[in-house]
Amino acid sequence: MSNYHIKHLEEYYQVYRKSVREPENFWEEIAEEHFMWRKKWDNVLSWDFSKPEVTWFEGAQLNITENCIDRHLATRGNKTAILFEPNNPNEAALHISYNQLYERVNKFANVLKAQGITKGDRVCIYLPMIPELAVSVLACARIGAIHSVVFAGFSSTALATRINDSDCKMVITSDGSYRGAKTINLKGIVDDALKDCPCVKTVLVAKRIESDINMEAGRDQWLQPLLDEALPVCAPEIMNAEDPLFILYTSGSTGKPKGMVHSTAGYMVYAAYTFKNVFQYRENDVYWCTADIGWITGHSYIVYGPLANGATTVMFEGVPSYPDFGRFWEIVEKHKVNQFYTAPTAIRALAKQGTELVEKYNLSSLKTLGSVGEPINEEAWHWYNDNIGKKKSPIVDTWWQTETGGIMITPIPFVTPTKPTYATLPFIGIQPALMDENGNEIKGNQVDGRLCIKFPWPSMARTIWGNHQRYKDTYFSAFENKYFTGDGALRDEVGYYRITGRVDDVIIVSGHNLGTAPIEDAVNEHPAVAESAIVGYPHDVKGNALYGYVILKDTGESRDQNNLRNEINQIITEHIGPIAKLDKIQFTSGLPKTRSGKIMRRILRKIAHKDTSNLGDTSTLLNPEVVQDIIDNAL
Ligand code: PRX
Repeated sequence: MSNYHIKHLEEYYQVYRKSVREPENFWEEIAEEHFMWRKKWDNVLSWDFSKPEVTWFEGAQLNITENCIDRHLATRGNKTAILFEPNNPNEAALHISYNQLYERVNKFANVLKAQGITKGDRVCIYLPMIPELAVSVLACARIGAIHSVVFAGFSSTALATRINDSDCKMVITSDGSYRGAKTINLKGIVDDALKDCPCVKTVLVAKRIESDINMEAGRDQWLQPLLDEALPVCAPEIMNAEDPLFILYTSGSTGKPKGMVHSTAGYMVYAAYTFKNVFQYRENDVYWCTADIGWITGHSYIVYGPLANGATTVMFEGVPSYPDFGRFWEIVEKHKVNQFYTAPTAIRALAKQGTELVEKYNLSSLKTLGSVGEPINEEAWHWYNDNIGKKKSPIVDTWWQTETGGIMITPIPFVTPTKPTYATLPFIGIQPALMDENGNEIKGNQVDGRLCIKFPWPSMARTIWGNHQRYKDTYFSAFENKYFTGDGALRDEVGYYRITGRVDDVIIVSGHNLGTAPIEDAVNEHPAVAESAIVGYPHDVKGNALYGYVILKDTGESRDQNNLRNEINQIITEHIGPIAKLDKIQFTSGLPKTRSGKIMRRILRKIAHKDTSNLGDTSTLLNPEVVQDIIDNAL
C-alpha cells in the first residue's frame, strides 16, 4: 500500500525520501491505487528541462470526471459534493449531492456537444461563484474540451485578450452576478469583449439576476432551456494522460498574459494527493476554500482536488464583508466547516475589524486553517492562529503557483510543526533548490536565494498556450536544468522555507498576481501620459499596493491632477480590472534611467517604500538630478 495519507513526521520524512529516490515507483503506486484508469501507462515519467518537455503517465487513458464523480456514486451518491452558499445570507444554501452533480455535469456536457463543442476545443468560462461555474468546468472535462476560466472581476478588454489568445469557440457566462451589495452586469462585459472576438460562435447564459439583458440572436442562448432538454447521461471522452485539461492565464512581468496549460493525469494525481494530505481531509468533513474558481486555487482546491477525494467542498458566492465582516465566521458555524483555506489579505482585512464579530460564532468545528497566495506576515499569522484556530488548529501556509498546479511547500497539519511566516517543508516529491545570482545552488541551511525546483512533479504546467518558447524563456532559462519560480526564499536552520516574495516585476496585490508592464501599457494609453513606471510598496491589508510614477506630455496647458489620477485608474479598470488600480500616482518630470535607457526601478521602489537612506550610486544615471526631485515630491 502506498502512504496516501501521511500521519506523523517520521512517516513524512520516510515517504519524502522515497519520493526523491524512486520518484517513478512512488508516483506509480499513488496513481495505481487511488484513481480510475481506462488504460494504465506505459511509462511513468520522461523529462528534459532543456527543451523543456515533461510527460507523466504517458500512454494512460482516463477521464478526470469519472474520478471526480462517477466512481463515488456507489458509496457516496447522496453525500454533498458541492455546498453552495449564496451571496445573500437569507437565500437558502444548496446541497448538491454526488448523484445530482453527476446529472448536472452530464446534462451540461450534452449541451456542449449539441452546440458543436468537441474534444480539444477551447471554451471560455466567465462566471461568478455559482454552481454553474463548477458544473461547466466539469462538463468541459467530461467531453475533453479545454476550459479556460477567466476570473469574473476582469474587464472586457482583459477577457477579450484571453479569449483570442486561446481561440475559444464558446463563452459560458451569466446575466449578472451578486457581489456583496453590488449587482454586476456580466453579460454586458461579455458583449463588449466579443466585439473583438470573431472566434466565438456561441454564448451560453446562466440566469442569476433578475434583469433584462441583451441577447444576440444566433449567438446567445439561455442555458436552462437547453439543460432541460438534455439527456442525463453523457459517456466520458477517453483522454490521454497528457491531453490538456485546461488553460489558466497568469500575469507575466512583460507582455500579454501567459496561458498556462495543465495536463490531465498528472494534474489530477497531484491535486488529489496534495488535497488529502495538506488538509488532512476525513470522510465526513466539510471543507471550504474561499478562493474564486477563476484562480488556480479554486481549480485545484475547490473543484478537482476535493472532488477527486469524494469530499464536500463549499462554494461561496459572496465577499467577506457582506452583510458584515462576520460573514466568514457565520458560514463556518452554519456549515460546521472543518478545513478553512483563505488568503492573508482576507485575514488582514478581517483582523482590522477586531474580534467581536469572531466571538459571535461557534468555530469549534475547525480543524485545519490554510493560507495561500502571498507571504503571511507574523501579525496576521498570530491573529489567525489565536482567534480563528484558538491555538488548536494548525495553519498550513501553502506556497505554490498557477504554474505548479498544486501545493509545493507546506506543512502537513498535525504532522509538521508550524512556524509563523514559514511555508516549512517541501511536499512529497518536490525538490526545491536555492540558487545564487551566478547560477550556483546554495547548499546548507540558514541561506537565502532564488527558489527553483530541480525535478519534475506531476502537476507542473506543460507549456504556455501557443508559445512554448516563452515557457522555456520564462521558467527554464534563468538556471540550467531547473524550473525557476520567480520567488526568493530562505531556508532556516532546520531546513524550513520562508518565501520572501517575487524577485521579478510581478507584484502581488491582495493575493492577485499583477505584472507591471501591462499596467504601464494601460496608463500610457491616456492621451496626456508620456511615460510611466509602476512599483509595489507595502500595504497593511493588501500586502502590496501599486505606486505609479507618471510623466505627462508637455502640452502647455495645466490639468487638474486629481482628475488625471481618476482618469488613469479608469483606463486601468477598463484594460485590466479594478484590482490593478494605482493607490498612489506621482506626477514627475523624469524617471531615473541607466545610460542604456532602462528605468531604474530599484530606486523608484525605495522611494515608494519611503526608504531613501541608501539609494546606492546614482551618479552613473543618465539623469541623476530627477532622483532628488522625485524624493521631494513623493506621496
Ligand atoms: O510569489 C508567490 C506567491 O504567489 C505567487 C503565485 O501566484 P499565483 O500564480 O496567482 O498563485 C497563487 C495561488 C497558488 C508565487 O510565485 N505565493 C503563493 N503562495 C504563497 C506565496 N508567497 C508566499 N507564501 C505563500 N504561501
